[in-house]
Amino acid sequence: LSPTELKMLDAHEFATEFYHHLLVNTEDGEQALQYLMERGFTRELIDTHKIGWALPKWDALATLLERKGFMLEDMATCGLIIHKEIDDSYFDRFRGRIMFPIRDENGKVIAFSGRILNSDADEAKYLNSPESPIFHKSQVLYNLDKARASIRKTRKAVLMEGFIDVLAANRAGVHNAVATMGTSLTPQHVQKLKRLVEQITICYDGDNAGFEAAKRAAEMLQAERLKIEVAVLPDKLDPDDYIHRYGAESFTNQILEKPFAYIAFMMMHARRGKNFQFENDTFQYIHEVLGHLVGKTSPIERDLYINQLAKETNITKEAIEAEYRKFEGEQV
Ligand code: GTP
Ligand code: MN
Ligand code: MN
Ligand code: MN
Ligand code: MN
Repeated sequence: LSPTELKMLDAHEFATEFYHHLLVNTEDGEQALQYLMERGFTRELIDTHKIGWALPKWDALATLLERKGFMLEDMATCGLIIHKEIDDSYFDRFRGRIMFPIRDENGKVIAFSGRILNSDADEAKYLNSPESPIFHKSQVLYNLDKARASIRKTRKAVLMEGFIDVLAANRAGVHNAVATMGTSLTPQHVQKLKRLVEQITICYDGDNAGFEAAKRAAEMLQAERLKIEVAVLPDKLDPDDYIHRYGAESFTNQILEKPFAYIAFMMMHARRGKNFQFENDTFQYIHEVLGHLVGKTSPIERDLYINQLAKETNITKEAIEAEYRKFEGEQV
């Protein structure tokens, strides 16, 4: 790390303490603290993750950073403040937001995500730090620093869409969860995960976007020979919503511990919207599933899924097997 990057890390550490202090010790933070409590955050969780509050002022942090002797230009580069060309002044990027520090895998704060209190406002729900010399969004897995020990122990990581979901999972006793920072999974994320575990449970939001994103993530991870399971949430709920509604125990027992195996998830995805009264739907479905079976399954798994295909579509097992061999031949 360069001296400038070290300064940027110092400033993030400083800002983390500042925002956290405002949330837990001052009257200004009361409403935000109340909001977090209503969402089920415990004081312990708030302290461990050093969640904070940014005042709805233009220069609260900028003034402090200047007083502490930080170079404001560097502070703008790492996104804590923004440069105003007109009068060459600086103002705070995060104002009136609940502040979630984002840490690298060594536990150093490298960025923030700020949530507005009122979701109905016109502003974006979450505001993230920009890309900077210390923050590369496409590489960061939220909570990896804290989850590492549990990931080692369980030999498994749980991958989520929202960092709020990771925090809710924490509260529910699930400590091996990580999340991307609002981006889809990247090859860098995959490599990071691959170095840590052989098995990943994808637990994305239960809406359609989450379902599609889970499919893409599953394919990327499986292509790297990781063992993939997909835990699917009902009724468009995300992990945080689900834990709120049904509790921690139900989340672990009914959702995380009852995942779909990779192929079973792909079959469910392929089945969506298809009607096996129509021959085109039937052929399409069988071909799609066979495509997933080729090169990724053992003979026993193949037998299992081909049996299921036959049952679902009313095509004989022998015919599907013959089709499978044709498929396999075309692939090599
Ligand atoms: P809550 O509404 O607070 O429960 O958050 P959520 O985690 O359910 O959010 P959602 O499912 O909408 O989005 C998942 C992730 O996408 C979040 O954790 C963010 O990283 C990202 N995200 C969501 N909304 C925004 C936004 O308005 N701006 C940016 N930059 N990222 C967002
Ligand atoms: Mn860098
Ligand atoms: Mn979503
Ligand atoms: Mn969500
Ligand atoms: Mn949510």
